Amino acid sequence: MIIVLDFGGQYNQLIARRVRECHVYCEVHPYTLSLEKIREMNPKGIIFTGGPNSVYGEDSPQYGKAIYELGIPILGICYGSQLMAHTLGGRVATAPVSEYGKTEVKVNTNSALFEGVFENTICWMSHTDYIERIPDGFEVTASTKVCPVAAMENASRKLYAVQFHPEVMHTVQGKVMLANFVLKICGCLGDWKMNSFVETSIRSLREKIGDGKVLCALSGGVDSSVAAVLLAKAVGKQLTCVFVDHGLLRKNEGDEVEAVFGPNGPYDLNFIRVNAAERFYAKLAGVTEPEKKRKIIGEEFIRVFEEEAKKIGAVDYLVQGTIYPDVIESGLGKSAVIKSHHNVGGLPDYVDFKEIVEPLRMLFKDEVRDAGRELGIPEHLVSRQPFPGPGLGIRIIGEVTPEKIRIVQDADYIFREEIAKAGVDKNLAQYFAALSNMRSVGVMGDGRTYDYAVVLRAVTTSDFMTAESAPIPWDVMTKITNRIVNEVKGVNRVLYDYTGKPPATIELE
Ligand code: XMP
Repeated sequence: MIIVLDFGGQYNQLIARRVRECHVYCEVHPYTLSLEKIREMNPKGIIFTGGPNSVYGEDSPQYGKAIYELGIPILGICYGSQLMAHTLGGRVATAPVSEYGKTEVKVNTNSALFEGVFENTICWMSHTDYIERIPDGFEVTASTKVCPVAAMENASRKLYAVQFHPEVMHTVQGKVMLANFVLKICGCLGDWKMNSFVETSIRSLREKIGDGKVLCALSGGVDSSVAAVLLAKAVGKQLTCVFVDHGLLRKNEGDEVEAVFGPNGPYDLNFIRVNAAERFYAKLAGVTEPEKKRKIIGEEFIRVFEEEAKKIGAVDYLVQGTIYPDVIESGLGKSAVIKSHHNVGGLPDYVDFKEIVEPLRMLFKDEVRDAGRELGIPEHLVSRQPFPGPGLGIRIIGEVTPEKIRIVQDADYIFREEIAKAGVDKNLAQYFAALSNMRSVGVMGDGRTYDYAVVLRAVTTSDFMTAESAPIPWDVMTKITNRIVNEVKGVNRVLYDYTGKPPATIELE
């Protein structure tokens, strides 16, 4: 195992993900993790992340000298590199020139960290401080035009530090560097697979839950389905899955979810479907602000779960299929709030469960799909496109009304049907119809219309943190547009959203 010590940087889970891509198990822990605990966990290596502070600033996160005496290889990244220099007697200061973005770095290819890396290689920099003087016993192993210590090491003590971010894609050979660290320097075998994640999670869930009762918030989407099956393997019938049909699902979706997870489906689960559309619609009436809608839906979900838990009695745990991008975009790390994902930042302050369990919290979407495959979940479910917890509530701009829900459900159904028929769906990570709040004038059957504009969106992405709008063949678009305006009452225009993320997001709200 490799431990990533989190000093508040933006890319911390990305570091963990890159390590897992080398088939090495990795956990992220806050920098406050005690030395005793680290000794107990006995990792093969430790990575210090970046962070927004200056090491010499007041209250900046620190880690005592003793960690360097454990004999465990350490790689410091950005803030982590500066911390290593600062703690071991070097000097960190404000750099005369800050570096941001892709930067040419000259590396010493004799360093074990840079084995197989080109002497001049492009790395991603993002720093205002720099290492001005390295500690005794260290040597400089990389530099840029303006940064004399882009990397340093004390190879005999297996201490390595890089000013740049090897974990981000823009560092062209970052994966090679991280692989060198975990495989060559730390000596990890690189034989970890997703099945080990599944086994370890099942074991630790069993330990945590004991003979307690668990309720799982199941939406039928990939994440919560994987979480539910994982839990079912861990604690069997101690688990009850509650599927809340909030009336904001895609057309026919409620029945489809019930067909898979309900009593007639392949899984032997305790399954409860709660038809709660009316209470969600009532709470959403008159509300137009996106964050408010998200919070209302998130809170109402929890209230339904609490009620169901009371009916079952003595339920300690609520399981959610939260994954890493949900956590980061809800701003629970140090990053800004982009959206309150309903199962993270959308949680009300008080939740009547002993604990919320989120076994997939550290995984990216494609890793969750791999875990699903390991669990034997059929491919068509595992590769389903994501659907957000707040559902159509955040695909309808402005107030949510039953009429608008009907429009967006019908338009989305046509869009998905035609995309699948044309065979374009395999190239798309997510595609859906949304409803703008715009009404405009049109003409139909010689008469004037004043109706809504449907917005179609289709994106490609692998991690859902960034995305590109996907080109859809024009003839397919023509067919979709004709069908939507002809078949969906209340629509007289169809628009295609061609914006990427950033600057847009995937969902419209
Ligand atoms: P955005 O719109 O933030 O979406 O670019 C990124 C991915 O997250 C999904 N999404 C959510 N999923 N609860 C979820 O479970 C939410 O509140 C939520 N909001 C967005 C979105 O569909 C996309 O896949």
